[in-house]
Amino acid sequence: MLVAPSVLSADFGNLARDVKAICDAGCDLVHVDVMDGHFVPNLTIGPVVVSAIAKAATKPLDIHLMVENNTFFVDLFAPLKPGYISFHIEEEKNPHRLVQYIRSLGIKPAVVLNPHTPAEAIEYLLPDLDMVLVMSVNPGFGGQKFIPTVVEKIRRLDALRKKINPECLIEIDGGVTDQNIELLKDAGVDVCVAGSYVFKHESFETAINNLKV
Ligand code: DX5
Ligand code: ZN
Repeated sequence: MLVAPSVLSADFGNLARDVKAICDAGCDLVHVDVMDGHFVPNLTIGPVVVSAIAKAATKPLDIHLMVENNTFFVDLFAPLKPGYISFHIEEEKNPHRLVQYIRSLGIKPAVVLNPHTPAEAIEYLLPDLDMVLVMSVNPGFGGQKFIPTVVEKIRRLDALRKKINPECLIEIDGGVTDQNIELLKDAGVDVCVAGSYVFKHESFETAINNLKV
């Protein structure tokens, strides 16, 4: 299991320190939640703060867009050379085009499924994707409760990707802890995002190791 701590739960007064600390503690990716107050009710960070995160990080950024105007934000963040950029399938009129565009910028493209969106919604995008991010909470806030019906969706997605694109990773985001990580691994998850679980733990290293199942 690869581990991507969500910086949303970091101490923003000491952001660079926390980003360095999770990287030193052995995380694989640094998950960055960008919310615009339109696609989701909440508002988080823009290019000024994300570039500070990029400067402090020694692991690739995993930028999760929760915005209305995806292409605008892809162009804004591309110069930071993130590892992945993911966008919500529910918000994009031309997802296939945007996937190709992200790849043309040298960034791995990923799409995100909200809790109500079926795995089959991205069946014809799968050959072109590096990762699918499955939301296990409604996007917008950290610290929410895991939605259990998502496990069945991951199993379906796992079967689909094995058939169509076995290289494509499955990532989970929302309510991940050491209590549900084994179940998620068993269902087919390769990468877990964890915000409150990692940042509320007394040791980032222990928290990250607990998720590396
Ligand atoms: C929610 C964000 C998540 C959030 C996860 O919209 O996409 O990345 O930070 O936080 P936890 O792990 O606390 O549920
Ligand atoms: Zn996220």
